[in-house]
Formats: sequence, C-alpha cells, structure tokens
Amino acid sequence: MCYQPVVTRDQILITIRKAINSCSCPIKQLGRFFEELEGIFREKGIFGHAKRTQKYMTILYDEMMRDGVYPAEMSEFIRERLALSVALHDIGKIETPDEILNKREVLTKHEKNIIKNHTKFWENWLHESYRPEELDFLKRTVQIAESHHEKWDGTGGPKGLKGSEIPLAGRMATVVDVYDALTSTRTYKGHFTHKEACERIKADSGTYFDPAVVEIFIKNNEKFKDAHVSFLRNIHLSQLAPHECRVL
Ligand SMILES: [Fe+2]
Ligand SMILES: [Fe+2]
Repeated sequence: MCYQPVVTRDQILITIRKAINSCSCPIKQLGRFFEELEGIFREKGIFGHAKRTQKYMTILYDEMMRDGVYPAEMSEFIRERLALSVALHDIGKIETPDEILNKREVLTKHEKNIIKNHTKFWENWLHESYRPEELDFLKRTVQIAESHHEKWDGTGGPKGLKGSEIPLAGRMATVVDVYDALTSTRTYKGHFTHKEACERIKADSGTYFDPAVVEIFIKNNEKFKDAHVSFLRNIHLSQLAPHECRVL
C-alpha cells in the first residue's frame, strides 16, 4: 500500500522561514518553530510526549551537570535549547499516516519501516532551501531526531551507531523518550508504573542505554516520578492521543 504523508515538507519549510525571520536568537527561533508546530503535533498526538520529554530532559541535564558527567560535552549544551530540541525528536512522525500510528494490531514489516523512517525526516532536503548559517538553530534538533533510536550496543538505528559514536544528546534523549513511552498508555499497550519503567531502563543499561546516563536517571528517579505525576494531574499535557509513540 502507498501512504501519503499528512504534512508536506513545504509546510515545514514555511514554518522554518517564520522561525528564522522571527528574531536572531537560536533559542527563540527554536521556540517559535515548536510553537508553530503545536497544532500539527496535537493532531498527530505527539504533543504531550513532546512536552513531557522536554521536561524530563531538563531534569536529566541538571543532574548530569551537578554530578559532572561528561563535562566537556555537557558544557556545549544550552539547557533550554537542548530541552526544546528533545521536544522535537519525533517530528518525523508528522509524516507517518494515522492509520499506522493508530493501528492496534501488530504492524507489518512495511509499516514498521515507515514508522522507523521518522528518524530520517531531516535527511538531505533542508540545504536546498536554506543557507547553513540560517539553520544553526536546528542543528541539535536534527542531531537528536536522527540519533534517539540508536542503541548503546550498536543494535539500534538508523545508522547502527555504537557507544560514544552516538551523540550524547541522542543518548540522553533515548532515556527520557523510553521512560515516557513506557509510562504512557498507547492503543497497542497499557502503561508501566514508574517503578517498572525504572527497572526496565536499569536492565537495559549498557545494551540499549548509556550506563552513565542511566546511573543519573536511576539515582534521581524520584524527580522524574514527580514530574510524571504532575503531568498526570495536568489534563492539558497528560491527555494522550491513542497512538503517541511506539517503542520500536
Ligand atoms: Fe522516535
Ligand atoms: Fe519519542
């Protein structure tokens, strides 16, 4: 079956232009870009997931900074920009047809590949329309979108990167992404409790996840739990479209 994307790349190009023209500060440009996409994210059911991963990333960033984990790489991050970039990690799903995202039954291989392609959303098309310096505000966003399904042991994708070959921002995004996916209900699965999600993440340390990031996550898991609980109380952000995020 041939699926048509719901959102065209032309629409994204217009949104990027609006963000670039809004001001010269990359963080504000990124904020504007996310704001412009809110309606589309809501329609596709990825808005709550975006906002929650954004919050979880700020917690992870703060605690990694506090404990001096990967200090050289961490010093390159700007907290708010990193968190906003994580909020946009699943932007590629705006092209995934709803009938696949909403499907309750087991996905076919073809459908799985269509979903997996959300990590390749940014590949090779932006530079036809923009100069590299105009796209500076999206650099970290693209990096995270491309690397958040890579796994520490090299069995993830799309590139099969291993260990520190995976950008740190992507390794951090993977932990907060999976934590949110596990603790959220989807059409095809129930949700894990916070404790069960922590156990799963701990068990996959060193295979799926960077052990140093997991150590910080587990050490501070009560902070993530508090944020998770406050999202549950906030209908605006806890409301899940049924399909939000398949863990593939
Ligand atoms: Fe994803
Ligand atoms: Fe995600």
